[in-house]
Amino acid sequence: MAIHKKQYHGVFAEHYGHTETWDTRVIPGMLRSLPAISGNSALLDLGCGAGHFLPYARQKGYQHYVGIDLSSDMVKRASQCHPTGEFLVASAAQFSHLLSDQQMRFDAVVSIMMLSTIPSKHDVLSVFKQSYAVLKHGGVLVLCTPHPAFNSYMQHNNDTQVNTEFEGYYAQGRRYDVTRTIGDTKLTFTDYHWPLTTLIDCIVTAGFKLTGIDECQSTNDKQANPSHIIFIATK
Ligand SMILES: C[S@@+](CC[C@H](N)C(=O)[O-])C[C@H]1O[C@@H](n2cnc3c(N)ncnc32)[C@H](O)[C@@H]1O
Repeated sequence: MAIHKKQYHGVFAEHYGHTETWDTRVIPGMLRSLPAISGNSALLDLGCGAGHFLPYARQKGYQHYVGIDLSSDMVKRASQCHPTGEFLVASAAQFSHLLSDQQMRFDAVVSIMMLSTIPSKHDVLSVFKQSYAVLKHGGVLVLCTPHPAFNSYMQHNNDTQVNTEFEGYYAQGRRYDVTRTIGDTKLTFTDYHWPLTTLIDCIVTAGFKLTGIDECQSTNDKQANPSHIIFIATK
């Protein structure tokens, strides 16, 4: 079966799973970067997909989990898989008006592999501004995205085809289409390249203090280069 549309907005939700790097790199990096918390605490997951991060948020002590995703299919699947979470269909670039005053106060905002799907710098900045707006003072943003200098999608391998307008590292916003074959299903999706300068500029412009990065180094896989980067920023 071939799926050539933006995969998240439809049938792909049924197939959504994870590559090996989720277990070996992304989740260990996220668990290192997200502060543990106790008491009545809330975490917002932007571009939550099927809600796969919910159990990890709970493991770190976050009692309330809210996930936002543009795809109603993903939100439907997330609600089925994780009935204890709260899920909303919305854009991560414009969602704060949908939250009640009570919901507007998060201890942490996380986002995993969503930012690279945002097609304009204006909306990338909006994601950070909206995150800032809904965090408590002292709250933390932990955002994981493909590493712009060593993007694994750009590195052709046996199960991935990349068709790219990419002309070089500095070509911000350049698009690339990635086709993966999972079983007998072929998925094509579009991502956009955002250099480190753009990302850090947006984090700082939104008002955050960048307090750390994690390049998702794994001691037990053989990849020599990073595939993801995590930004840790506080309000
Ligand atoms: C690669 S998936 C990652 C899902 C999840 N974070 C995970 O790691 O399992 C990217 C998700 O971002 C969502 N997404 C894309 N653009 C979005 C936007 N502007 N606002 C909210 N969600 C968006 C997609 O629908 C998709 O579910």
